[in-house]
Amino acid sequence: MICKITNKKIKPFMSFGKMPIANGFITKKDFKKEFFFKMEVGFSKKISLFQLNEHPKPHQMFNKNYPFFTSSSKGMVNHFKKYSEWVKKNYKKDLKNLIEIGSNDGTFLKNFNKKKINLIGFEPSKNVAQISSKRGIKTINKFFNYKNVKKLKNLKRKINIITAANAICHIPNLKDLIRGIDFLLADDGLFIFEEPYLGSMFTKASYDQIYDEHIFMFSASSIKKIFDLFNFELINAIPQKTHGGSMRYVICRKGSYKPKISLKKILRKEKKKNIDNIKSCLQFKKKCEISKKKLIQKLENFKKKNYKIAGYAATSKSTTILNYCNIGTDFIDFISDTTKEKIGKFSPGMHIPIVSMKHFQKNLPDRAFLFAWNHKNEIFKKEKKFKKKGKWFAHISI
Ligand code: SAH
Ligand code: TMP
Repeated sequence: MICKITNKKIKPFMSFGKMPIANGFITKKDFKKEFFFKMEVGFSKKISLFQLNEHPKPHQMFNKNYPFFTSSSKGMVNHFKKYSEWVKKNYKKDLKNLIEIGSNDGTFLKNFNKKKINLIGFEPSKNVAQISSKRGIKTINKFFNYKNVKKLKNLKRKINIITAANAICHIPNLKDLIRGIDFLLADDGLFIFEEPYLGSMFTKASYDQIYDEHIFMFSASSIKKIFDLFNFELINAIPQKTHGGSMRYVICRKGSYKPKISLKKILRKEKKKNIDNIKSCLQFKKKCEISKKKLIQKLENFKKKNYKIAGYAATSKSTTILNYCNIGTDFIDFISDTTKEKIGKFSPGMHIPIVSMKHFQKNLPDRAFLFAWNHKNEIFKKEKKFKKKGKWFAHISI
């Protein structure tokens, strides 16, 4: 495989086998034409970058049927309100132009005053972009890439802040992304984005963070090294609790701001924990293999006891667990979810029926596989009734 930044050859260190599109919830009639790719991961030593080898093309994942809506979690709606407040508080200059990459249904941008700030969302998935537009947010229904960005001639070097959340790791051509940032960002502008954190995935062995959309799993070390190559500079990294452990990165043009002292501490910690080198990847691989064995044993034990098992929340992450561990309806009767676009369909690859939350509440299982473990507080609060009958479990400790 070839590193997507350095173009150097790297050897994949692990394969998760054949994977379908993680958010490709499917109807029965389409089972036969389902798309699969080989999900292998590699690590570029030079820039400490954890990355997928093969992956589907962006338009296969992000199109008019994208079934993920930021607003499906109250916790994330609250998080984005706080994120916007943080941006407003930390950007001491006159904020005139702000662009969000991967603005989805507008959950983040709606927190800003559009009368005072020129707000633009870039969102290629048509269905979610339409929701954002209906909320009154200027939304460009296109991929953020240099070709599309350079059409915004009047905004060249005028954008004070470019933000993103859980979207930069979705963009395979990072060099092209950075070219777009370079075109738009003001001389003293900031590029702020947060993404699932490699260090948290290693600690928890939450390998389900790896799926087609997550082409990269970033760390502060990798982000620093990548942006260094393009005349940009990482000046801050702030850990976040979202998605089981994320990191917010702040980037500027080289030399335009002073890096925070706290950043040094994070980089040092990553070195100490080998997050900046292949050693941690090899440990992670072992952890995944053990986790897979234990999960299958657990499910077999449940079956021996004649337990009814259901899945809770048809997350994109669950696609990796189910396909890597080969878990289908032989173990799990159904997966319940709140998203109407997923209900009535089947899980990608393993074809477990997706049902409503009402179905879950009417057919409480003995054991529920919590696929949305990152939203556990929110879910435990609403599902107190289940707790009286059954028990939660997951492939990681919850
Ligand atoms: N920011 C939201 C959505 C994350 S899902 C949140 O954190 O909840 C990732 C989003 O990025 C999707 O809505 C997808 O359509 C969008 N996306 C993927 N590639 C993109 C690109 N090149 N430019 C802009 N958005 C992109
Ligand atoms: P994710 O943010 O981990 O990808 O999870 C989002 C999915 O989880 C989405 O399909 C909606 C579903 N979900 C529920 O079904 N119930 C809930 O209470 C929450 C928070 C999410």
